[in-house]
Parts: sequence; C-alpha cells; structure tokens
Amino acid sequence: MAATQHFLDLGQFTKEELRKILDLAHALKAKLKEGEKPPLLKDKVLAMIFDRESTRTRVSFDVGMRQLGGQTLMLTGDEMQLSRDETIADTARVMSRYVDAIMIRLLSHDDLEEMAAAATIPVINGLTRFSHPCQIMADIMTYEEHRGSIEGIKIVWQGDSNNVLMSWIQAANLFNCELKIACPEQYKPNQAMQAEINATNGRVQVTQDPVAAMKDADLVITDTWVSMGDLDATIRREILSPHRVTQELMDEAKPDAIFMHCLPAHRGDEVTSDVLDGPQSVVFDEAENRLHAQKAVLCWVFGIEELK
Ligand code: CP
Ligand code: NVA
Repeated sequence: MAATQHFLDLGQFTKEELRKILDLAHALKAKLKEGEKPPLLKDKVLAMIFDRESTRTRVSFDVGMRQLGGQTLMLTGDEMQLSRDETIADTARVMSRYVDAIMIRLLSHDDLEEMAAAATIPVINGLTRFSHPCQIMADIMTYEEHRGSIEGIKIVWQGDSNNVLMSWIQAANLFNCELKIACPEQYKPNQAMQAEINATNGRVQVTQDPVAAMKDADLVITDTWVSMGDLDATIRREILSPHRVTQELMDEAKPDAIFMHCLPAHRGDEVTSDVLDGPQSVVFDEAENRLHAQKAVLCWVFGIEELK
C-alpha cells in the first residue's frame, strides 16, 4: 500500500514536486474560468477542524472541495471531544474510519505531526504556529501570474518572524530566491527558524534595517504583528512599528515590485491602506488563489497530479 500523502510543510517537498502541484493549481484555475469544474474528488469527504479563527482557509477549502465534486464537514476543536482531553492521535484514528482526508488549523505543530502519524488518511496543515504552507502555495502562484517565475527573485519580509515567514523560508530555499528578513531584535527568528535559515546556504538573511533591506526587492511581504496565540499585542505594535509597510518604504524597492499580505490585514499597523489598496498590491488575487492552490493540494494528497 502506498504511504499516506500528508501536506504538512513545504520543507517535505522537492522543487519538482511543488512545481507539479503549482502547475495543477494554474490548470484548475484556468478550467474554472472557462466554467468547468472537473469532479476529480467525487464522493470524497474532507473533515475540516478549526481550533482557531479563519475566513479564507475555511471558505476556500470548503468551496474548493465542492468544486471538485467532494463534500466537507466543518468542525471546531471546542465542539469535539478534543476539548475534553481525547488525544489528537485517537481523534486521528477515529476520523480515519469515517472521512477521506483531514484539514486542520491548530496552534501546536507537534499536535499536527502527531495527528498525521496516527492517521491513515491524508492530513493537511491549515496553519500552525510553526508554518502556513497552503498560504505560500497561493503566494507563489500569484507571483507567477503577475511577474513569471520566482526563481532567483529578491523577496523582502518586513516585521514579525512568524509562521507565514517560516513557509516562505522553505519556499525561498527550494526556488533559489534571495530572502531578506527585516525584523527587530526582539522578534527575530527563533531557534527552529534560525536552523531552517542556516540550511539555506546564505539565501536567507536577517537584518534589523527595514529601509536598506528593500533595495532591489521584487516582492515585499508582511503579515500581522500579532498572530493567533500571541499575547503581547501592545508591546508588539510599539516594537514592530519601524517595519510598517508604507508607500515611502515600498518606494525603496524596485519600481515594479509587488506587495503581498496573507490577510487579514491590520490597516495602519503592519501596512498602510495606500499600499494595501495601491497598484503594487496583489493581496486579493493572493486570497483568491488560496482556492485554486488548495484544490491542487487536495488532488495531490489523493494521488492526482494532473488534469487528464
Ligand atoms: N490567510 C489566512 O490563512 O486567512 P484566514 O485566517 O482567514 O484563514
Ligand atoms: N501569522 C498569522 C497568519 C494568519 C493567517 C497568524 O498566525 O495569526
């Protein structure tokens, strides 16, 4: 029997494997724009467990599964026995007897890995404190639509060293991008992230200078200063403020640089509205592409790699 294909982190893939999923995402998007919804996952049931808030992940997985001819079950951690101490492994074993795949959002990456180890069906990471791989699949797809290949481009990350950044570090390593992380000392990469950076042979670098980092940037990215699970909101806003992406800061990048944010945005904190709504911003294409990228991820976990 073939091993169960989980989608837990970009670091688990080769560039060629991710390329196939991205190509399928582009193809599925093109088909949908032609009004076609190939029922590649007819009768498959995806259980979606949300232990934390979500708009995009929740809606795009649900709609994506329906477009592929499958069905979804929406569950929240607090309405499951998980909230009364049933283990994540036992939950995985039981769910594996009912549904065909699980997509889960929860803070603990260890719990995600424990679930995947116990499940006999595919498990997809819908965001943990460690990483957010589905988001970066959509981001790469979006860059490719607007500017072509991401191979060798310069990416600048401004702000907090969080889960979205972790997945971008892994993507930058695979696709040979230069990634400059501009962050304050207090919110610099932790040990796990630094280990990931050390494995990139200098492709990923950290600086405390938000302005100098922007030189020659093709792609500028930021995210909330207060991620789910962060408690120190007030102090974070104060310390991270030099990394706010304003138009003035954007002007330090290449003139045709584009701006991304996984959303939800906190206008006036990590990014100003003139940038978010401005001509360099592709944030709503990025949000749309969550749908198309995740449809490809869903196909991949079920062993479907291309449109026939
Ligand atoms: N970007 C993202 O994952 O959004 P949601 O939290 O709304 O799912
Ligand atoms: N870094 C954010 C991403 C939200 C989609 C968080 O973890 O809350």
